[in-house]
Amino acid sequence: MQGEAKQRARLAILASGSGSNAEAIMRHFADHPHVEVAWVGSNRKQAGVLERAQRLGVAASAFSGKDAAGGGLLEELREREIDWVALAGYLLMVPADVVQAFEGRMVNIHPALLPDFGGPGMYGMNVHRAVAAAGSERSGMTIHWVTEAYDEGAVVFQGEVELTADDDAEAIAAKVLQLEHQYYPPVLEGLIVGWTERRLNGAKKT
Ligand code: GRF
Repeated sequence: MQGEAKQRARLAILASGSGSNAEAIMRHFADHPHVEVAWVGSNRKQAGVLERAQRLGVAASAFSGKDAAGGGLLEELREREIDWVALAGYLLMVPADVVQAFEGRMVNIHPALLPDFGGPGMYGMNVHRAVAAAGSERSGMTIHWVTEAYDEGAVVFQGEVELTADDDAEAIAAKVLQLEHQYYPPVLEGLIVGWTERRLNGAKKT
């Protein structure tokens, strides 16, 4: 690719579970002029996200957490010429070498309004149970930059939803997941297209 701009920015999605957010992202960027989902990676061989990717014709594979931490994930991302990384229900720590290499080009989605209900142990249904137990009147989702401290990167976007006294953890999870599907793809699009434009403008000036 040296000397000429790539046609489309290459986005990788890392996920550990069912992958409904990953699917929303893959569908959003199918046939997109500036962004393509170039790889879906999972630390779990049986993760539903791999099947969803295969069904949608997106390259997908599993890796071991040990290989990832030993430099394997960064190598894979480089070999696949990945420009951006979206975490979508990825339950392992991202290795420090990957965080550093993708600074400003990697975001995560968290199913609550950070800084509330974030940090160690706050993932999946644990988050929604804690929100329900706290009697919160609202919850939502946060898209944030990935840094080496979990859930502490600067917030890019938050979407909120009102809760009622009847909402249990399952009901909260359903409301939040709907928001995630609604907002994660277009927020990623804004970030990546903005980055592509800045890169092209920078290239023109030199
Ligand atoms: C989402 O709620 C996401 O915010 C969290 O894990 C869940 C993943 O759901 N990090 P899915 O695998 O995208 O369906």
